[in-house]
Amino acid sequence: MNRVAEALNIKYPFIQGPMSWLTNAEFTAAVSNAGGLGILGPNAGQTSITNDATETAERMRTEIKKVKALTNKPFGVTLIGGNGGPTSEFTLKVLNVVIEEKVPVAFVNSVGASLDGTFGIEPALLKPLKDNNIKIVVRSWQPSIADAKAAEAQGADVYVATGFDEGGTLPSYELGSFSIIPMIADSVDIPVCLSGGISDSRTVNAAFALGAEGVFVGSRLIPTIENPAAQNVKELIVHSTAEDLQLFRVAPAYYRSLPTKLRDQLVINDKTQNMETAYELNGKLMNGTSGMRIGMLDGDLENGYISVGTGISTIHEITSVAEVIAQLMADYKL
Ligand SMILES: Cc1cc2nc3c(=O)[nH]c(=O)nc-3n(C[C@H](O)[C@H](O)[C@H](O)COP(=O)(O)O)c2cc1C
Repeated sequence: MNRVAEALNIKYPFIQGPMSWLTNAEFTAAVSNAGGLGILGPNAGQTSITNDATETAERMRTEIKKVKALTNKPFGVTLIGGNGGPTSEFTLKVLNVVIEEKVPVAFVNSVGASLDGTFGIEPALLKPLKDNNIKIVVRSWQPSIADAKAAEAQGADVYVATGFDEGGTLPSYELGSFSIIPMIADSVDIPVCLSGGISDSRTVNAAFALGAEGVFVGSRLIPTIENPAAQNVKELIVHSTAEDLQLFRVAPAYYRSLPTKLRDQLVINDKTQNMETAYELNGKLMNGTSGMRIGMLDGDLENGYISVGTGISTIHEITSVAEVIAQLMADYKL
């Protein structure tokens, strides 16, 4: 049996990448009901930010309860790593909710190797997750051989290797999906999934041919009926190709976006300023993660940005999550 499917108790080795603001119970449950692993991401089900850690965790509890009402299949919740510093109060409170609500899978989004020498899963998360028999999927912002080995030694169930093709916060290593997956898959014994550019059955087949035992998919799932993204954003993605994307610097490395007024300014700053100034100016303009909400959830193509990966060229219609998963996994033998 496929090791990712076996470890996570799912039908297909297909994991939905959490996307800030762009997950909610309906979307995540749809992925799990279709045989993949749905994961609630940061700000799941929300339209506004809260700076209160308890409120953040309780909002997540509400969303978890909704998922449980919509599916009896496994699903996951995102735990954001501490960015090299201590694990945040927000993450620790969400961790407690994950344990109390008996969520089957924790998706640990750690910093990874390159920024400060921290590898793998933070100790403050690892022990409680292990003690409660919660499966651990690790995806680091800076995937590396050392990080994958550390996660394996700590007892991670699945490691996700992310290539530069992905949407969202880009890894600073700048290794494309085709290069990173055999490198990581050859260095560890635990199963590795490929994240970045998975958008049709060809890319799924290529991932498996290159050593992946599962796929981890974000952008392809945005133009679906169940995803909370704004309708004009879904339509923009369907009518765009990778040629419409432009890259710009912002800490910790890069983002890319489809055309918006804000995107054009972010690109100008990148082209005309030195790295530190571009990071600073663009960080302010992107408004934390709120720029993503403004662009992708509210559909404001002036003041927000539309972050997607380079695999979007083959997306031609808005369909259900179940149809996307069936199409992508068409050649996968159960
Ligand atoms: C709009 C958007 C927001 C994202 N936000 C997050 C996030 O909050 N946490 C995270 O771990 N990954 C995030 N990601 C990355 C995805 O989980 C996944 O790794 C990525 O989308 C895979 O590449 P793909 O878009 O080419 O499928 C985001 C991706 C997108 C497109």
